Amino acid sequence: MHALLFLVAFISCYIFIKRNRSRVTGKLPPGSLGWPYIGETLQLYSQDPKVFFAKKQKRYGEIFKTHILGCPSIMLASPEAARFVLVNQAHLFKPTYPKSKENLIGPLALFFHQGEYHTCLRKLVQGSLSLDNLRRLVPDIESIAVSMLESWAAGRHVINTFHEMKKLSFEVGILAIFGHLEGNQKEQLKKNYSILDKGYNSFPTKLPGTPYKKALLARRRLQEILKEIIFERKEKRVKERDLLGCLLNSKDETLSEDQIADNIIGVLFAAQDTTASALTWILKYLHDHPKLLETVKAEQKAIYQLNDNGSLHLTWAQTRNMPITYKVMLESLRMASIISFTFREAVTDVKYKGYLIPKGWKVMPLFRNIHHNPDFFPNPQQFDPSRFEVAPKPNTFMPFGSGVHACPGNELAKLEMLIMVHHLVTRYRWKVVGSESGIQYGPFPIPMHGLPATLMKESIQEKKTICGGS
Ligand code: HEM
Repeated sequence: MHALLFLVAFISCYIFIKRNRSRVTGKLPPGSLGWPYIGETLQLYSQDPKVFFAKKQKRYGEIFKTHILGCPSIMLASPEAARFVLVNQAHLFKPTYPKSKENLIGPLALFFHQGEYHTCLRKLVQGSLSLDNLRRLVPDIESIAVSMLESWAAGRHVINTFHEMKKLSFEVGILAIFGHLEGNQKEQLKKNYSILDKGYNSFPTKLPGTPYKKALLARRRLQEILKEIIFERKEKRVKERDLLGCLLNSKDETLSEDQIADNIIGVLFAAQDTTASALTWILKYLHDHPKLLETVKAEQKAIYQLNDNGSLHLTWAQTRNMPITYKVMLESLRMASIISFTFREAVTDVKYKGYLIPKGWKVMPLFRNIHHNPDFFPNPQQFDPSRFEVAPKPNTFMPFGSGVHACPGNELAKLEMLIMVHHLVTRYRWKVVGSESGIQYGPFPIPMHGLPATLMKESIQEKKTICGGS
């Protein structure tokens, strides 16, 4: 069955290339297209993807062609080229995702679209995540972070940091989308979303019992749960400022239930693994740099003391004034480059710097390569938050993308990370378990095994140390 699917994919690709070749004039960028049909997919997956891209860049320069995942592709590793594709000439390139993934999220989600529909939805999503709205979420995000930390420490067992951070980012996502959601509905959403999440990166076969098929079924159930929530919200006739409220009260056009559901699942999806991965890296880098951890602690303890040793809530103003922690967060985003690259597809033949990007070819701005280029970030492998004391050169730092599809959730993600770090370093100590370093891709890069760790309340640990010493 798999072999048959591969065969069909390769034949379609072959026909596609043949057809396009007759139309293409002009010079393609340097690079190699690898083996017939399979291209360089095996090379990409048999090694660390970041090594694959770095080697290519070293050999061919900042623009090169390859052929991966059944598609001829052009990789762009310069800030100018990324800007060209994502900002200046964004209309010449459309977002592109495998159909199998589109079906799980919902084809009407904004990130699959261009033009008017995308602009309309983006305005609504951005509106719900405005600074004014986020300011009101601080106490709720805080209580989610506090109760998560308590549960991790209470268990006294080894946690998978990434998995636990996913729970946090899911809760925060739900908060931004629905405000306060009734317990049973939240549980149903959580249960079915986690099945969808498991199937997302599995082989897309509809055979019964496979993770992909289970995910499709869970997606259908999610649709029903969302319909019920939408119905109840409409009945209430209160205009809320959360994402659901913004989608229901669009002034431009009335959105259908499918449009609303696809965009809710889309935002939940975009919010969860990304933020969880970033937080996991922050913990790893702080753990590996004890001196830096002390300076972050000092910054956060000063706020904690001002807040009557944590009995007062963090204020919005305090979250906007954590300069050391903020730079640690930016440097973690640069080092980890969670979204290492993105995909677009040329909607017409495009000329760039004398090279031809043929219609239908995939185009991939390589954020990680740009973030790790020593011309823009000296000693790029060194974790050094102080580099952000000076603003990076334009278009060299794009952890949240750039242009029309840039991340509308970036301020929420940053707020969530700052609040989590505040409570973590002021009240807890954590120990990474095991010495295995390295990166795992799922598909976002995360520390090996999700960073197994134990967490303990600082006061308990300190008391133990004192007792031990006396
Ligand atoms: C550290 C956390 C995050 C990172 C690194 C991140 C990164 C990104 C990047 C790079 C893009 C652009 C992708 C492209 O151009 O193809 C993007 C888009 C998007 N992100 Fe995020 N994101 C994060 C968190 C969030 C959160 C918390 C939300 C929502 C609450 C969110 C919602 C979205 C949406 C809806 C899009 C699609 C925008 C569009 O197509 O117009 N993201 N994100």
